[in-house]
Amino acid sequence: MSAETVTPAVDHYEAVKALGTSPLWQYFGELFAEAPKNQAVPYVWNYQALRPHMLHFAGALSLEEAERRVLMLVNPGMTEPPATVNSLYAGIQIILPGETAQAHRHTANAFRFIIEGEGAYTTVNGERVHMRPGDLLLTPGWHWHDHYHEGDGPMMWLDGLDYPLINALEAGFFQLYGQRSQPAERPDDISHRQFIHGRLNPLWIQPDPVNSPIGNYPWTETERALASIGDDADGSRYDGVLLEYTNPHTGGPVMPTISCRIARLRPGFNGAAHRHTSSTVYHVVSGSGRTEVDGEVLEWGEKDVFAIPGWVGHRHINGSRSDDVLLMSYTNEPVHRALGIYREEHLD
Ligand SMILES: [Fe+2]
Ligand SMILES: [Fe+2]
Repeated sequence: MSAETVTPAVDHYEAVKALGTSPLWQYFGELFAEAPKNQAVPYVWNYQALRPHMLHFAGALSLEEAERRVLMLVNPGMTEPPATVNSLYAGIQIILPGETAQAHRHTANAFRFIIEGEGAYTTVNGERVHMRPGDLLLTPGWHWHDHYHEGDGPMMWLDGLDYPLINALEAGFFQLYGQRSQPAERPDDISHRQFIHGRLNPLWIQPDPVNSPIGNYPWTETERALASIGDDADGSRYDGVLLEYTNPHTGGPVMPTISCRIARLRPGFNGAAHRHTSSTVYHVVSGSGRTEVDGEVLEWGEKDVFAIPGWVGHRHINGSRSDDVLLMSYTNEPVHRALGIYREEHLD
């Protein structure tokens, strides 16, 4: 063989990499896994342990310095960027008497569920929405919102947002309002008063198929709904008496990416085990109990927050013989259903 006919060895892998490609056969198992591999892990955030630190920061940092005084509930498996479970975030926010939080808006959808305190309100697109413990307040995407506290003690609530999803979709926008506060242009709590009866919708208001028009779902109404069902309903074998907060125009979830729910686990409730692709964050409104998660046990008490990632088997238990457990929860199930990827499996 003459020297002229020798072809230098070509590294085809390097060559195709330089051409902006990658061999699919090297990634196949990772990209098309047999079942979802979740980054998030099951986790409980202890409210009583967090509370003194919240009070410390409330004293040490003004709202002007902190913008929003919030401790993010970061899942140990989802630290960069921080998230609580896939596509959802949770945080605990504190506001003191006399404080106001700067008005802003963002494309991420948000809600707050009030944990303690009285006398604060959020202005949402010109409507003052007052908050009391157990109330669910909505600030859907691109709605102006700011907070005021005219009461006595500290006010604390759970913030729930879908920014991990909105940012993953590269659709995150944020804007500050021109002044610190927006004017209240509509009657106080009008959206709640107009819609809360649920079966009587005001026909002069243009239906919004995406977001619920209701600013506040008061605890008094939630409690009344649970009481009127009482012990007469079968409930879900997984979640007990599980109710979804709905958009009165559609009967669907309050926001397109988040379904908010309230569940009552009766004394002695021993739920069946299942798993589903959607992820859920729970807040314990009252009572205490445990959730068995793939062999591990999560113990939770009043006001704690806990995370159940998607496709993790779980069973809720109320071990008390006398007391109910009330669990507020939110889930990305509407996204899974809208995309046709929702799956659920019974495990018992
Ligand atoms: Fe916000
Ligand atoms: Fe579940």
